[in-house]
Amino acid sequence: MLYPLSYGRSRGASYVRAGVAVKSRGARARAGGIMGARGAAVGTEYQRTFGDVMDFVVVREIARGAMGTVFEALQCGVRGFSKRVALKVLRPELANDPRLREMFVEEAHLVADLVHENIVQTYHLGEVRGLDGDETTLYMTMELIDGPPLSRLLERHRERGTSLPVELCAFVASRLARALEYAHPLGVVHRDICPQNVLITRLGVVKLSDFGLAKVAERRRLDDASGDLFVGRARYMSPEQARFEGTDARSDIYSLGVVLHETLAGAKQPPTRTILPIEAINPGVPPRLAEIVGRALARDRAARFATAGEMGLALERYLYEKGYGPTNLTLADHMREAFPELYAQAT
Ligand SMILES: Nc1ncnc2c1ncn2[C@@H]1O[C@H](COP(=O)(O)OP(=O)(O)OP(=O)(O)O)[C@@H](O)[C@H]1O
Ligand SMILES: [Mg+2]
Repeated sequence: MLYPLSYGRSRGASYVRAGVAVKSRGARARAGGIMGARGAAVGTEYQRTFGDVMDFVVVREIARGAMGTVFEALQCGVRGFSKRVALKVLRPELANDPRLREMFVEEAHLVADLVHENIVQTYHLGEVRGLDGDETTLYMTMELIDGPPLSRLLERHRERGTSLPVELCAFVASRLARALEYAHPLGVVHRDICPQNVLITRLGVVKLSDFGLAKVAERRRLDDASGDLFVGRARYMSPEQARFEGTDARSDIYSLGVVLHETLAGAKQPPTRTILPIEAINPGVPPRLAEIVGRALARDRAARFATAGEMGLALERYLYEKGYGPTNLTLADHMREAFPELYAQAT
């Protein structure tokens, strides 16, 4: 079994009991720091933690990815309180590599406080012990997204022989650019922007997921001679990332450009790794938008948008210059049409 969790049976459901309480010295110091920074005199009577152990009841497996398995779970409180969350369990072979484990934990620290409408929020990092008592692995809980990834939406269009409307392609990219504009100055580069990591809620909110995981994935790719697990992601990597040179915010801009290009190309995308100018693939893309795609995809990073905010602004100017343009609702209507089965389900 891949995932030696401390699954047990409780009220008919499997559960994971978090072995690590939120009481590390680091977290305490940080709590003190935050309160101190607000200028309040923090008495030691407040320097305590609330609760010892968090209980998560696993409801169902959502999907398996290269890094681990994603479950829907309930985070349980007292008196029957529960909150639906996504729980991602890191593959034990990743968690048991001390270097990767350390990296994963470091990154989790970095993304803990990223709170933005267009970013899947991280709630908790925990550790679970296997039933054999030895092996432990790490898991993260995060905001549960009730819709599919962008990759699934593109697939649905391919199946139907249709395309995502140009305006919605630009809208999705504009939301992602705003998410990056928020994260980059906080020192967080995503490094793994691809349609699989863009989730869309049923209300049409675009959410970038897996912030903080890419560094581990990148390390793993370097270690994994066959590279099989990550081969599908190569086309989203900036030239400098593919050469294993340092990545910065502009590498994310490049990857976002590839995603925008892919959404605009739709089924017209030739099966080649070379990215042709979008106007050569889809003449329906207006020149102004084609220029934005071209600039994000410049091989020389100095020629790209200097910041994600600049790219977001360019996309929004393009989208809204007529005084109206797509919103979350427009995207939600499109999702309803593309995935009627999803909206028919009771939530
Ligand atoms: N927060 C979430 N809420 C709901 N579903 C999620 C969430 N995060 C991931 N998923 C679902 O789980 C699937 C797998 O995600 P995961 O990130 O593990 O794999 P991946 O992105 O396909 O590959 P990788 O492991 O390289 O990131 C996603 O495609 C999505 O359907
Ligand atoms: Mg992912």
